[in-house]
Amino acid sequence: MDTDIDWGKLPFGYYPTDYNVRCTFRDGKWGAVEVSQSETVNLHIAATCLHYSQEIFEGLKAFRGKDGKVRIFRLRDNAKRIQDSARGILMEPVPTELFEEMCIKAVKLNERFIPPYGSGASLYIRPFEIGLTPRVGVKEADEYMFIVLVTPVGPYFKSGFSNTNICIMREYDRVAPQGTGRWKVGGNYAASLAAGHRAHEMGYSAVLFLDPKEKKYLDECGPANFYAIKDGKYITPMSDSILPSITNDSLMVLAREMGMEVERRHITVDELEEVSEAAACGTAAVCSPIGEIDDIDTGKKYVISKDGKPGPITTEFVRRLEAIRHGEEPDTHGWITIVE
Ligand code: PLP
Ligand code: COI
Repeated sequence: MDTDIDWGKLPFGYYPTDYNVRCTFRDGKWGAVEVSQSETVNLHIAATCLHYSQEIFEGLKAFRGKDGKVRIFRLRDNAKRIQDSARGILMEPVPTELFEEMCIKAVKLNERFIPPYGSGASLYIRPFEIGLTPRVGVKEADEYMFIVLVTPVGPYFKSGFSNTNICIMREYDRVAPQGTGRWKVGGNYAASLAAGHRAHEMGYSAVLFLDPKEKKYLDECGPANFYAIKDGKYITPMSDSILPSITNDSLMVLAREMGMEVERRHITVDELEEVSEAAACGTAAVCSPIGEIDDIDTGKKYVISKDGKPGPITTEFVRRLEAIRHGEEPDTHGWITIVE
């Protein structure tokens, strides 16, 4: 059955689909994979996910190619990352095969929601895990549920592929220096809400968080990593408090292939004076070019894009990423899983 979705106008939001896929860890083992049509979960009122934030998630996408085939981008890497997140907050890691099987199943079951080639939209896959055990004392759960939901999405930033302005704000930290920033845990996003809300109220698309220890170096950009082009080099922050973005990792590979040097290192705020391009990169954001970065504490404005247009390198990154994801360029890095 077709849907009546206007694919070209899809926002980045939740749109109900037909099925989600679930699996429970109980008595020391993962059970059978279940297919559900329910959009709700039944939880104990004292479950650890509700009280002590034992919740981790992933975000990845499936694309329909010109050839009609459906491709999932870097499925295995997302499996690995959710396992790291699980270890980070003492949850039960989902085995790679189970993660892959459930994502593929959720995509197949909701085939009619995979946006058509050329629409600019994709099927967002949101695997997540929650602690189920009732606890009042602060302790990890021993029962967990892993769920994969999918939903068709359009661009994360409403403006699509065009520059947006972001801001530096020192009043809030997203995470602590040796805290949970390197894992994809729900609590990090709760901690970013107030800063994000203030930034949006001031007309910025995101906050460029600084390192929480010294507030000297760039960390990451809302729900995305940050990169810039300086003297023709790809530079991106190295920090214990940022999420290792799989998109950023892919861009570093593409940048090297394009003959650029790649530097992962501390980047000071002042260096923004010298960059020719900057962008927020992530599954949702893809590469969102940045026009201007305003430091709201000092009043300093860093104008990155002099002509108001996305830079040539970011434009080429998006072209190449999209070509690989849609099967128009060969997948020479083993990034693609074709859904048969
Ligand atoms: N940083 C944060 C805080 C994120 O939420 C995301 C999104 O997943 C990213 C970076 C980008 O990571 P990826 O490219 O793996 O989606
Ligand atoms: C993603 O890019 O997949 C994310 O998780 C960002 C998000 C929290 C919307």
